[in-house]
Amino acid sequence: MRLLEADARHRIRFTLNGRAVEGWAEPRLLFSDFLRHEIGHTGTHVGCEHGACGACTVLVDGKAMRACLLYAVQLDGRDVRTVEGLAEADGRLNDLQAAFRKHHALQCGFCTPGILISLTQLLDEEPGADEARIRDVLSGHLCRCTGYHGIIAAALDIAATRRAAGGKD
Ligand code: FES
Ligand code: FES
Repeated sequence: MRLLEADARHRIRFTLNGRAVEGWAEPRLLFSDFLRHEIGHTGTHVGCEHGACGACTVLVDGKAMRACLLYAVQLDGRDVRTVEGLAEADGRLNDLQAAFRKHHALQCGFCTPGILISLTQLLDEEPGADEARIRDVLSGHLCRCTGYHGIIAAALDIAATRRAAGGKD
């Protein structure tokens, strides 16, 4: 039987949290499913699978993107960072993660990986981001538990720290 093009698996190679990764993916395989089911990186969560909830957000070449709106084959040659890549090299929480703990910015934690990723991009690009900018970014994420107050407090805490350290905004 002839293999249909839609069923053919393609080799993909990319960088994931600083390490080279390779695997095989059918053209229709979502990147979120590739991460979770093909290579066992389950830190990236999947909620709606249609771009609405933000749970699956990852950084692709430094930009926050919905992994459920990307096909795995599109990631060939790209640089990807997921929530598993946020901690310090020695395993300690990074400053944003520690601020989430300090400000009780999570309850069930389902939304947390995606929110950490989007705030990572924001606070890297705009270290002194104000509350309006933080709320703007959080508007792309659904959290059913926290009411967002702790999340905003954590982000403002890091923005203030980075502003004091002389980061640009
Ligand atoms: S699972 Fe991707 S945005 Fe909801
Ligand atoms: S902490 Fe439960 S959905 Fe955000």
